[in-house]
Amino acid sequence: MEFHFSERMLTLKPSVIREILKSVTPDMIAFAAGNPSTDTFPIEEMGQIANELFADKTRIASILQYGVSEGYQPLRESCFARMRGKYQTGADFDELIITSGGQQAIDLLSKAMLDPGDTVIVEGPSFIGSLNTFRTYQANLVAAPMQPDGMDLDVLENLLKTEKNVKFIYIISTFQNPSGYTTSLEKRHAILELARRYDVLILEDNPYFELRYEGEYVPNIKSLDKEGRVVYAGSYSKILSAGIRLGFAIGHRDLISKMVIGKQASDVHTNLFFQVVAAEYMNRFDLDAHIEKARGIYREKRDLMLSCLGAKLPDCVTFSRPQGGLFVWMDLPAGSDGKDLAALTVKQKVSIVPGNCFMVDDAKVNSGVRLNFSMPSKAQIEKGTDILAACVKEYLGRK
Ligand SMILES: Cc1ncc(COP(=O)(O)O)c(C=O)c1O
Repeated sequence: MEFHFSERMLTLKPSVIREILKSVTPDMIAFAAGNPSTDTFPIEEMGQIANELFADKTRIASILQYGVSEGYQPLRESCFARMRGKYQTGADFDELIITSGGQQAIDLLSKAMLDPGDTVIVEGPSFIGSLNTFRTYQANLVAAPMQPDGMDLDVLENLLKTEKNVKFIYIISTFQNPSGYTTSLEKRHAILELARRYDVLILEDNPYFELRYEGEYVPNIKSLDKEGRVVYAGSYSKILSAGIRLGFAIGHRDLISKMVIGKQASDVHTNLFFQVVAAEYMNRFDLDAHIEKARGIYREKRDLMLSCLGAKLPDCVTFSRPQGGLFVWMDLPAGSDGKDLAALTVKQKVSIVPGNCFMVDDAKVNSGVRLNFSMPSKAQIEKGTDILAACVKEYLGRK
């Protein structure tokens, strides 16, 4: 039978990373993944809570029932209280919706705001999952190049001036996926001011900001927002567990109420059982102490990866030195193609993601590659960077 797919799905390709991960065998070193380390999941504590919930027949019966689309109220309250109290993120005019991962917050805002042909300004490079969401809504995607301190503001302003129907600017403000870069406070203020001047929204996607291994916390853009111009997408994937699929959006109540309607037409509500587990976890245990433990694990891995890259790569290859998050961006000399390097490393059982995948125009040659340090063990980081460096030398020697 011939299937007549919708126009919006015709141009959409499967996430390259998900495809790469499918071909990853247990003997392969995965620098391509973006997964958190399972060592950081609070398995015992969550198990204890789950057992107690199932032992209470009346309570579990109501948890296994339908819930409300906005989210489980105690989780909404503790999440909002934590974001407002600790990070001044969210104001009196804002509401919070619990979503199925941060990914759904991005999807629901797009559903609420984007008509086909509307423009979304993104960072170049940016997160594939979001680019594909915007593509699903047939958005016109344009990028401002990402610099070590955030978007190129001249390009951003020019795009705001020249592009039609710009609905929002999409920013991964801290320890960006894939570059590892963090937008400076100065640029956060400047981007908010530009958004105000050109009357567009900002979608601040910030799932990594609590995984900081050094340096000072940079206030979230949402914390600078005095008029409801910023929608904040948060996630529990990197601080609690990814498989529970818990995220949230904080935004002006009028925006959130539209997102709630969008959610009702999508999955009705986020998995109630894990919302309750997360709420109980935050109530009974110290989430901040747990995050501190995760930071320790990742800091060691990041340090190891950076020192290995520094010692093993030729000088003409540069790489970012992220103060947190899960990714390092490696750049080959101009004219190189990250795809060719990825083809070489995969033969040696090391997977990496070529930089073109993170670009609006992914057909264009890109000299970057993304490396992840959270998934591989320390031994794998040592061995994998040996292989990577040998492949880089082979590739550059051939060119
Ligand atoms: C920048 C960014 N945004 C959003 C997400 C989605 O995260 P989740 O849906 O697991 O909360 C990810 C996941 O890797 C990400 O890197």
